[in-house]
Amino acid sequence: MVDTNDMYSMVKEFPGLLTKYKLGNEIQETCGRIGDEGLNGIVIIGMGGSAIAGLYVQSLFKESASIPVLTNLDYTLPAFVDSNWMTIAVSYSGNTEETLAAYNEAIKRDSPTFIIASAGELISKDNCLRKIKIIEGYQPRAAFPLIFTPILNLIECAMGLKPTQLENIADSLSKKIVEWESSPLAPRNFAQDLVGSAPVFIGSKHLVPVAYRAKCQINENAKTMAFFSEIPEANHNEIESFTARNEFEILPIFLRSLYEDTWIQKRMNITAELYEEEGYSPVRLSIRNSSKLEEMLALTLYLDLVSVEFAQIRKVDPLSIERIIKLKNELNKDRQKL
Ligand code: F6R
Repeated sequence: MVDTNDMYSMVKEFPGLLTKYKLGNEIQETCGRIGDEGLNGIVIIGMGGSAIAGLYVQSLFKESASIPVLTNLDYTLPAFVDSNWMTIAVSYSGNTEETLAAYNEAIKRDSPTFIIASAGELISKDNCLRKIKIIEGYQPRAAFPLIFTPILNLIECAMGLKPTQLENIADSLSKKIVEWESSPLAPRNFAQDLVGSAPVFIGSKHLVPVAYRAKCQINENAKTMAFFSEIPEANHNEIESFTARNEFEILPIFLRSLYEDTWIQKRMNITAELYEEEGYSPVRLSIRNSSKLEEMLALTLYLDLVSVEFAQIRKVDPLSIERIIKLKNELNKDRQKL
């Protein structure tokens, strides 16, 4: 049994959690039927650790889907979401107010809606199409793999695709955890290199959400500043901030993909060289893999481990999220006064 009081052991559960939930026949049929009836789009609603899996799936479908797949991180929904859009509402705790508000809005608009939650108000709703109840006890951000697979498979079913089975990737990730430990790439070594600087994780295409996740994991687990950006967009603005005259210690970390096309590859290389010329020490991170999906998940797992190691080096508790809780409590107090 995993120790949910220990972020490190929760993160090590990642491969196993990826294959924990399989969609039953009934839910697959419901989803397939909705897709066959004709959808104008799919929206995933959630916040923080519950939304990140939506951003991954959105990026996986970005170039291949014939309808938009959007992740909505807000109280409100775009006006175009209506009964021809499918909604997937995700909240690990089931009590996130933005997600509950957007969920109620989706129901009002007659959008066929699925719920993924472990507890709380969301899981007790009875006005959705189907619910997927995931296990309780994890931190939402550590529940990423528990949430990722059902979202991916629901969207695949709605698009008439066979649900991806993640067993092979999970096996490969389990082996990687062991290999990394005894290699120069040990997450502890990488975390050591982050000491004293603010990392900027830079990705392109399917590695943009991975860069964003890495930033959030450093923020929440290691409790320090981190940033993310994306190529090519960063070549049109952020590149100007990497000058020799910077007052802050910034560490650019390029998440390199084995699937970069020639122009992205050139941009990544030239950008790193320019940063080097200005006195920065860019890190190029890539991980052996056999598909884009495995690449996303392997880098995620690796950087999750780095964020926990970094927390240990910084002597902070990777589990605690005092400020997030304080903010939620303050909002609740104000809500009760209404
Ligand atoms: C906590 C975390 C947060 C939560 C967010 C939304 O581990 O990662 O970002 O995910 O506050 O809460 P849930 O996920 O319960 O809807």
